[in-house]
Amino acid sequence: MTKQDDSTGMRKGLVNYGDAGFSLFLRKAFIKGAGLTDNALERPVIGIADTGSGYNPCHGNMPQLIEAVQRGIMLAGGLPVRFPTISIGESFATPTSMYLRNLMSMDTEEMLRAQPMDAVVLIGGCDKTVPAQLMGAASAGLPAIQLITGSMLTGSHRGETVGACTDCRRYWGKFRAEEIDQQEIDDVNNQLVASVGTCSVMGTASTMACIAEALGMTVPGCASPPAVTSARMRVAEHTGTVAVQMAKSGLTIDKILTEKAFENAMRVLLAIGGSTNAIVHLTAIAGRLGFEVDLKALDRMGRETPVLVDLKPSGAHYMEHFHAAGGMTTLLRELKPLLHLDALTVTGRTLGEELESASPPFQQDVIRTRENPIYPQGGIAVLQGNLAPGGAIIKQSAADPKLMEHEGRAVVFEGLQDLAERIDSDALDVKADDILVLKNIGPKGAPGMPEAGYIPLPRKLARQGVKDMVRISDGRMSGTAFGTIVLHVTPESAVGGPFAHVRNGDRIRLSVKQREISLLVSDEELARRAREQPVQVPTADRGYRKLFLTTVTQADKGVDFDFLAAPEIKGTVPRA
Ligand code: FES
Repeated sequence: MTKQDDSTGMRKGLVNYGDAGFSLFLRKAFIKGAGLTDNALERPVIGIADTGSGYNPCHGNMPQLIEAVQRGIMLAGGLPVRFPTISIGESFATPTSMYLRNLMSMDTEEMLRAQPMDAVVLIGGCDKTVPAQLMGAASAGLPAIQLITGSMLTGSHRGETVGACTDCRRYWGKFRAEEIDQQEIDDVNNQLVASVGTCSVMGTASTMACIAEALGMTVPGCASPPAVTSARMRVAEHTGTVAVQMAKSGLTIDKILTEKAFENAMRVLLAIGGSTNAIVHLTAIAGRLGFEVDLKALDRMGRETPVLVDLKPSGAHYMEHFHAAGGMTTLLRELKPLLHLDALTVTGRTLGEELESASPPFQQDVIRTRENPIYPQGGIAVLQGNLAPGGAIIKQSAADPKLMEHEGRAVVFEGLQDLAERIDSDALDVKADDILVLKNIGPKGAPGMPEAGYIPLPRKLARQGVKDMVRISDGRMSGTAFGTIVLHVTPESAVGGPFAHVRNGDRIRLSVKQREISLLVSDEELARRAREQPVQVPTADRGYRKLFLTTVTQADKGVDFDFLAAPEIKGTVPRA
């Protein structure tokens, strides 16, 4: 094999002892202590970012995945080196996993910079992990390839197929409405997560898996195989092999994550009825490479991109069915006229070339044709108005069509504590056609923009059979949730946006058709309220919380830290 130069393999990024020869001598001595030979150390070094954690069952197949990746790397003549980074399991991280996404991205970036590797395999799956890894890798600039852990299997509850987490919410809603008893809610709790792996619907994890493939950051077919299948392990082995090719050819991440790649990813996000969270994540990843997301252009793209994937929460099926229907190959083939087929992927071939060489299409009923969509427009619409001058979004494909043109009286909750204290009170003055408003759950507000935008229906209305209401917040919502829910109101209330000054009884108008979210209160009155009750922006005395509150950006900038974005803006995506 060819001799390495000074900028590759174990010679890369030597520790500063003032004597490069000694630094390499020392490094080799230590790694030989792990049993490696000189022959092994001459090979391209492929880092493997291991995000296994007892707190992250969505990554519970990590040992098997790493074994398969290592096999793929060695078959291609590389040296695999596993290293740990932070792992974030969605339901185990308080106050919210989003609070830690940027920390994980910094950990990933700095470990890629600090340790000698010619390429890296990033293994992620649970909601924030894939965005964090892509953000970090985009900033580090190495050849990088994403491997997805894969979705969990579905379970069965009294004859009905169930899976996390759309059904978690649905059954919890039934329990709150007293439609099911304690025994049934306990029974279903045993069935919702039938194996390790990520949520089995088109939530944030599945959305980011599809987006990673659409970006060209995975091998073809990586998004959909469930976590515990042989197909997932073959994808892992293939990923290892491709990582070595990338290291040898110098295929760095900036050559893949171009404007065209981001536009392809946005098309896919809209066509899968994907999670609203993905907009924030895509904005943050693009920001690392100097691209700003134009929300209005994204909305225009949405008007001409139908939802084709029939998965919960917008549709009926689960990820394992998406996989059986051909997964991303079937979807991308259907979207071909709307995609940039010349976008480069990790394999060194273009998206179009990969689609040409894929297996032929077959009859299935999970991924529709453009002529027969699940929903005629993209899943997500961008709203504007005096309530959200910087924009807000709604997942229209998971909303009640009857509520999408609605005017109602605001019932305001000042924060999560206030919500918890009053939402189930029989004394709460609320009717089914009111609009629930939840403040102070934005990036700085909670902090970390928790997924609390899915405001539970007041118990007294749930008992009456009310299934949906218009709900508005400056927070996020789980990609597995459904309802007529306006999210990401920007600027958030905690920094003094107009949303901070909504009061009980104000009238609010939502028109998804007009892309409007308006507070029917005059500018003068809002200015008077702002003078009367000025907002105190949250602060902290020390630590990560201080860094977070000082530097986190709003939703329209990806909720990234301001110092992590690329220093120069290269352009906007999607291009108008
Ligand atoms: Fe990890 Fe849903 S909780 S993917």
